[in-house]
Parts: sequence; C-alpha cells; structure tokens
Amino acid sequence: MTVVRPAVSSDLPALTDIYNHYVRSGPATFDTTEFTVEQRRTWFSQYAVTGPHRLLVAVEGEDVQGYATSSVFRSKPAYATSVETSVYCRADIVGRGVGSALYRALFEQLATEDLHRAYAGVALPNDASVALHERFGFRAIGTTGEVGRKFGRYWDVRWFERPLP
Ligand SMILES: CC(C)(COP(=O)(O)OP(=O)(O)OC[C@H]1O[C@@H](n2cnc3c(N)ncnc32)[C@H](O)[C@@H]1OP(=O)(O)O)[C@@H](O)C(=O)NCCC(=O)NCCS
Repeated sequence: MTVVRPAVSSDLPALTDIYNHYVRSGPATFDTTEFTVEQRRTWFSQYAVTGPHRLLVAVEGEDVQGYATSSVFRSKPAYATSVETSVYCRADIVGRGVGSALYRALFEQLATEDLHRAYAGVALPNDASVALHERFGFRAIGTTGEVGRKFGRYWDVRWFERPLP
C-alpha cells in the first residue's frame, strides 16, 4: 500500500534517481545535467516538515515511488503567499494513482498554511501532468511559447494556477 509522508534525508538517493531519469529523458524538467546525491542536498534543504515549503514522498515499504514539492514561487516577500508545486513519479509506476496520492496529501497539508495561490508549469506535451493538475483544481492561465531549449529544440510551458486552500 502506498503511504505518503514527509521526506527524510535517507530518501535522497532514491529521489535523485527519480529526478535524474527525467533530466535525461524528456522535457518534464528543464534541468539538463544529472545531479549527484551530494549536489541535490541544497535542493532538499529548502523543505521542512511544517510551513509552506514541503517535500512529500510516496513509499510502499522501503520503495520510494515518487515525490511532490511546494517551493518558493518567487523570492520577493509579497510572493510569500504563493508556492510552485511539482510532482515526479518513478517511471515504472506512472498512471497508477501515485501522483494523485501525493498531490492529495500535499494540498491537505498546505491548507493549514497562510497561502493563497499555487502555480505549476508543465512543459508540453504532458497529458498526464495536465490531467493531474486539472484534477486538483488548477486551471490553465497561459502558455509561454518556446521558453526553454532542451535536446536541441524549444518547448512551450503551460502555466496552471490553483487557489489555496
Ligand atoms: C505527471 C505525473 C506526476 C502524474 O502522476 P500519475 O501517478 O502518473 O497520475 P495518476 O495515475 O495519479 O493520474 C492522474 C490523472 O492523470 C491521468 N493520466 C495519467 N496518465 C495519463 C496519460 N498518460 N495520459 C493522459 N492522462 C493520464 C489520469 O487518468 C488521472 O486523471 P483523472 O483523475 O481525471 O482520471 C506522472 O505521470 C509523472 O511523474 N510523470 C513524469 C514526470 C512529470 O511529467 N512530472 C510533472 C512535471 S510538470
């Protein structure tokens, strides 16, 4: 059974593996170079068990299946009531409800924080991510055209917005 809980530092190798798969294989992330676990510690350290910036993992036993984050949207203080969310599942378990379980838990937890908006950017095409965001109450608010270049071509990003709580 999949359980969603806050990430702990011993999850970091598995989280790095999940992310590096998407760094290598597609436009889901605009990172272009894989991370070592050590390099990924800075990313990990921005999250906490309480507060607006969280990192949740989905696990089945010891097996890490995916993770979701709520991160700083932009750093200037008036943006503090907004977060950017993201979610990555291990490639072999996509389409089995793990992304939904992660977002369900993340938005339940964020409901008690002093937050007003969540944003997510989805590089197109990504039918699963578009469906997930729409399922969780995000609406598309616009597309930045050819905003990123990866694998020698440009990619559009559709931006989604969701009220919080
Ligand atoms: C996007 C992602 C997190 C979704 O999580 P998931 O566990 O695969 O999705 P779920 O099984 O919870 O399904 C969520 C919704 O997406 C739909 N969906 C899932 N896979 C789909 C696909 N390949 N095409 C179309 N819709 C799909 C489901 O039907 C469901 O919609 P519904 O509730 O309206 O029926 C996951 O596919 C993933 O990690 N993809 C690769 C990384 C990525 O793209 N991350 C997002 C970056 S913006």
